Amino acid sequence: PAIAAVIPAAGVGQRMQADKPKQYLRLHGKTILEHSVKPVLAISAVQQLYLALSPNDPYFAATGLTAENIVRVDGGAERVHSVLNALLAIDAEKMPWVLVHDAARPLVRPQDIELLIQRCLEVGHGGILATPVRDTMKRGQSLINATVEREHLWHALTPQFFPTALLRANIQAALAAKVVITDEASAMEWANEPVLLVEGHSDNLKITRPADLQLAAFYLEQNQ
Ligand code: CTP
Ligand code: MG
Repeated sequence: PAIAAVIPAAGVGQRMQADKPKQYLRLHGKTILEHSVKPVLAISAVQQLYLALSPNDPYFAATGLTAENIVRVDGGAERVHSVLNALLAIDAEKMPWVLVHDAARPLVRPQDIELLIQRCLEVGHGGILATPVRDTMKRGQSLINATVEREHLWHALTPQFFPTALLRANIQAALAAKVVITDEASAMEWANEPVLLVEGHSDNLKITRPADLQLAAFYLEQNQ
């Protein structure tokens, strides 16, 4: 089936403490946004890419991202609003599935995106890339309350892949119910929809704090 892609890229990158939003910082000579877009556009079933950008973004024009199948939409107050704006722009009949990927994840492996899409289409419902938690996990504030059973804990990554109309409807309903939505899967879980966990790789990190950029540069060198 035809796939639409959504890349929310309208954040300010507060935790990165840089002079511009982190998606416009450079990694090996290219912006993080360009790195994140490339493997998504490389998927042959992806017909259109909807990029959510801040309405007064002064940086996008200087990137090399001018492909005909890139559609620009306005971002919103939070990530979920940026994603929803993009979903509202998609013709869900033409593109019944949607792949949502953070602009701040420049190192996702194309094979992992292919695997996610393939597994979801096999089972006929949505899913996400995730990695198993490897550390011993504790719940608590200054003192430990409990050790959280680790066996079934995962880190949620992106891309996340869902039927377009269903994702849009569930995000709208979850927002109306004032549910906190930090990724697409949370809206689907809230609606009791099944979401497949597809094991990805931990080098698909989200650039969040300054040290993440150095780590990403290191991974990039390893993969070359
Ligand atoms: N994002 C977005 N619209 C927002 C907030 C975030 O499109 N209103 C995007 C970011 O650009 C990023 C992705 O969502 O690609 C993941 O969000 P996060 O890592 O939290 O990025 P920022 O919100 O920019 O960073 P911070 O929370 O540190 O300010
Ligand atoms: Mg944020």
